[in-house]
Amino acid sequence: MTFNPLKEKGIALDKQLRTWHDIAKRKFNKYEVDCYSRTRQILMNGIEVEAWNFKHAFSRFCDDADTKEFLAMTKKFEDAQQTTVNWMSPADQSVLETTLGYEQVAVDLTAWLAQNEPDEYVKETFNFGLLEDFDHLYRYSQWAYMIHGINPNEIVQAQTDIVLSRPTQNHHNCNILRLRKPYDKETAAPQTKVNIMTLVAAEQQTHNYYAEHGMQYGNETLRCTFAEIKDVEEEHVNMYESLADPTESLYEKLLLHEFTEVCNYHTCYKDEVDEMMKPVWEEFLAMEIGHLQEAARLFKKYEGRDPEEVIGDKIVVPNHFESQKEYVQNILENEIDKRIGTDRDYMTIDELPDDWASYAVQEAVNEGGSPNETTISLIALQKDRDIALANEKLVKMQPKLLARGLQPEAQAPNTVSVEKYEEMSEYQFEF
Ligand SMILES: [Fe+2]
Ligand SMILES: [Fe+2]
Ligand SMILES: [Fe+2]
Ligand SMILES: [Fe+2]
Repeated sequence: MTFNPLKEKGIALDKQLRTWHDIAKRKFNKYEVDCYSRTRQILMNGIEVEAWNFKHAFSRFCDDADTKEFLAMTKKFEDAQQTTVNWMSPADQSVLETTLGYEQVAVDLTAWLAQNEPDEYVKETFNFGLLEDFDHLYRYSQWAYMIHGINPNEIVQAQTDIVLSRPTQNHHNCNILRLRKPYDKETAAPQTKVNIMTLVAAEQQTHNYYAEHGMQYGNETLRCTFAEIKDVEEEHVNMYESLADPTESLYEKLLLHEFTEVCNYHTCYKDEVDEMMKPVWEEFLAMEIGHLQEAARLFKKYEGRDPEEVIGDKIVVPNHFESQKEYVQNILENEIDKRIGTDRDYMTIDELPDDWASYAVQEAVNEGGSPNETTISLIALQKDRDIALANEKLVKMQPKLLARGLQPEAQAPNTVSVEKYEEMSEYQFEF
């Protein structure tokens, strides 16, 4: 039986208020939580933040009473859901531990989406972004050890590899070049629309998390590391959001937002192994069905169209967390030298024109050095080499990957060279 959320029974809007205790009471144990329960929690927080933000933006452009009342009522419910989900993070989970969780979401979610994306161009964009977040996970892992003494596997639980990828110093682009070609709302599959909206929400929240927490460490290089990676997350939001058709109306976007929430909670509920989280996903799914059916009513009323033309008649699966090591390694080996092209496309390093607009950006921001390069020098100072956690073949491949993935042009003055990196690789990292 297929699950058609327009026909399922949800929780009515007048039954969605919850007590403070119910809103705030749940938290997981950071030593016991399954890493993929944590990634679901991080993702759903991002989905709720986006739902809430969008409704405020819509309200500011809307003078229709029926619509404004629906938005006013449900903003409050989205907000309370966000609190419940985000505040599952326990007070003793450090900013860097949470950060590793965010990058694990980015890597394993993007890998899943790429493999389940029917549009080839969108898929290529997902694969492109994937390699950048993969490098962020590696860089932050060095800091989690240097600052808190933790093995990054305490967070990622050996489900996601930690190795260098396309170097972060090369992720800074002219944000105009980052813009992609949008899908056509008439022909794009609901899966594509929901995949993109899910990833935009995740990347936006990653950006927001770094924006709000990167200053909580006193170490100057770590502050700059957060600032540097936060800027890349801004580019990711810019890139992924530009894939969506900008001619979709606000009512169509509203419908897609609620549908995205429904689909994500549905998947979380089906996959969840954590006994505290599972009933939350179930309850919030029922709440979202209530939101979706009201959004569908408004869509019919103001656009005179059938909502199934936009979202179809069944659920799609926009997240599923499992180890993606093989897939990611394959993209890493084949696409580490890819760059943003000049015509909403992609190029390899050797194809870039001399006046590639991102060179000027990289030269400007990395003029005083890239903090993500200093990160590797710092851990090498302490431990002779970097932390790399993957199969032996992949760990050994790192110097070769760096040689292919690092641009010769516009290099930061503090770049860890391939020669230096090869030297480091002769040592063994001891925790
Ligand atoms: Fe929600
Ligand atoms: Fe990232
Ligand atoms: Fe990202
Ligand atoms: Fe909602």
